[in-house]
Amino acid sequence: MRNERNIENKGNEGDGRSEGGSRSEGTGRSEGTGRSEEGVGDGSGPGSGGRFLAGKVVAVTGAGRGIGRAVALACAQEGAKVVVNDYGVSVDGDEPRSEIAEAVVKEIAAAGGEAAAVADDISTMAGGQRVVDTALDRYGRLDGAVCVAGILRERMLFNMTEEEWDPVVATHLKGTFTVFRAASAVMRAQRSGALVGFTSGNHQGSVSQANYAAAKGGIISLVRSAALGLYKYGVTANAVAPVARTRMSANVPMELAEIGEPEDVAPLVVYLLSDQARQQEITGQVYTVAGPKIAVWAQPRELRAAYAEGSWTPQQLADHLPGTVGRDPMPMLERLKEMAEAAARKDRPNA
Ligand SMILES: NC(=O)c1ccc[n+]([C@@H]2O[C@H](COP(=O)([O-])OP(=O)(O)OC[C@H]3O[C@@H](n4cnc5c(N)ncnc54)[C@H](O)[C@@H]3O)[C@@H](O)[C@H]2O)c1
Repeated sequence: MRNERNIENKGNEGDGRSEGGSRSEGTGRSEGTGRSEEGVGDGSGPGSGGRFLAGKVVAVTGAGRGIGRAVALACAQEGAKVVVNDYGVSVDGDEPRSEIAEAVVKEIAAAGGEAAAVADDISTMAGGQRVVDTALDRYGRLDGAVCVAGILRERMLFNMTEEEWDPVVATHLKGTFTVFRAASAVMRAQRSGALVGFTSGNHQGSVSQANYAAAKGGIISLVRSAALGLYKYGVTANAVAPVARTRMSANVPMELAEIGEPEDVAPLVVYLLSDQARQQEITGQVYTVAGPKIAVWAQPRELRAAYAEGSWTPQQLADHLPGTVGRDPMPMLERLKEMAEAAARKDRPNA
């Protein structure tokens, strides 16, 4: 049955709304231009229980809960054998439990799919390697690696401790490196594969999540580096900035205008892992998905340039910089008041 619906490509004037900002996760409104409408979806694509990933082996970190779980289930539904990694920790990364990954393996098996659990901590090199080795040992290959695992430890920058900085950066950024490192060696040899990292609209900056924002910005640069370095081997690398109702987004104090469910994120990941995306040369991209919306983020580039005769002096810069290269207004800065008011009310509108 044909299930058509329209999508809109809305230009939202680059207001760059990002997640939460002051307390937790949230939206990632991105820039777009123009406006177009087209019908999509004929019921045979990802999420439809088709065979989009038939014969493939996919490893998903953080797959025990939230978005990672939805991604793992969707990959299995589309025909992939799945390595389900989850350390089974609390939102702040404590109290690991192995049952969290095992429960999703059971769900996949109950639905007729094949999956293997790895309850390791992917912020260690051994953990990342074990995720990849499990795919090879159990299923003989690895076609996709999706790094979803994440934690939050929120604190204003001037109060943030090393114990709040290190584990957040280690889980998100190093945890993407450990898996990408091991997976890319396999994919390079087999001359195919897809890497998917998870970033956030908060890579633009976040009031009380300097650790998280820094890690998420780092993931984008890691993904772009992987896209460049692996291009000649036929391996793609992309990042997803999701907005979905999970325990991580529940504490965002202001209502998120655009938010969906973890199941809304999964089809984009399935597509990024597919042969179709590779044939369509989708690599080095950052996509937001929030409910029915998908958006692509701009590649960073210089906006304007000015040249001195010889070198600039500080005084010449003071005289000329504002009227020449100027500045690029920071969208998040314009939302600080709104975010502070929402945080002060201690609301949980997205819970
Ligand atoms: N929910 C949102 O709106 C949103 C917005 C932007 C970005 N994200 C990102 O999406 C990803 C998934 O978030 P979620 O909302 O589903 O969170 P979640 O808390 O529901 O799930 C994260 C999972 O990662 C696991 N995990 C944590 N540390 C791990 C480690 N060291 N090794 C292996 N597993 C580990 C946890 O046990 C948990 O099951 C995260 O990277 C998050 O930063 C989410």
